[in-house]
Amino acid sequence: MPTLALYAGSFDPITNGHTDLIRRSLGFVDHLVVAVATNSGKAPLFTLEERVDLIKSAMESESRVEVRSFDGLLVDFARGAGIRMIIRGLRAVSDFEYEYQMALMNRHLGAEIETVFMIPSLDTTHVSSSLVREVARHGGDVTSLVHPAVDAALKGKYKTG
Ligand code: COA
Repeated sequence: MPTLALYAGSFDPITNGHTDLIRRSLGFVDHLVVAVATNSGKAPLFTLEERVDLIKSAMESESRVEVRSFDGLLVDFARGAGIRMIIRGLRAVSDFEYEYQMALMNRHLGAEIETVFMIPSLDTTHVSSSLVREVARHGGDVTSLVHPAVDAALKGKYKTG
């Protein structure tokens, strides 16, 4: 049986922190579904289609990565896709409390689904999508933080190219 896992987020936009975690996950799972939240309670800069396309661009060489979007509860999406492992990244201690609560709530909602925590690379620990947007909005250099397609898309959105 192939090992399947789910990595979900709003990915507005995908950063090198996310791709680092995706690549690390592929070290122990056969197939990873990257699930883009349709409504994560945040007002996104990029449309759902744009976020999905940017993930596909950033992960183009990875045939074992499948990008999908989802609405509703993550555990329901996982069940529907036949997946029992949710991957989450812990960048710093500050991530822990929220992640811990979410993992327990997801277990409450779907006892058969396990959350697996991973430590991203040290050089992406400070990266988040909102910080990348903020820097790009002011014309700052994010080329070392995101895939070139994401950099170009940010420049297009903020007309800073
Ligand atoms: N590298 C870089 N950045 C990372 C990262 C990593 N390894 N891991 C997380 N981040 C960033 C994200 O980009 C995001 O940045 P932002 O706040 O600037 O946008 C931030 O850290 C938080 O990430 P995350 O916790 O993954 O939140 P999210 O909004 O991207 O996604 C969902 C959260 C979609 C997974 C969650 O809300 C969900 O499951 N929603 C569906 C409804 C549901 O089931 N709720 C849970 C019930 S407990």
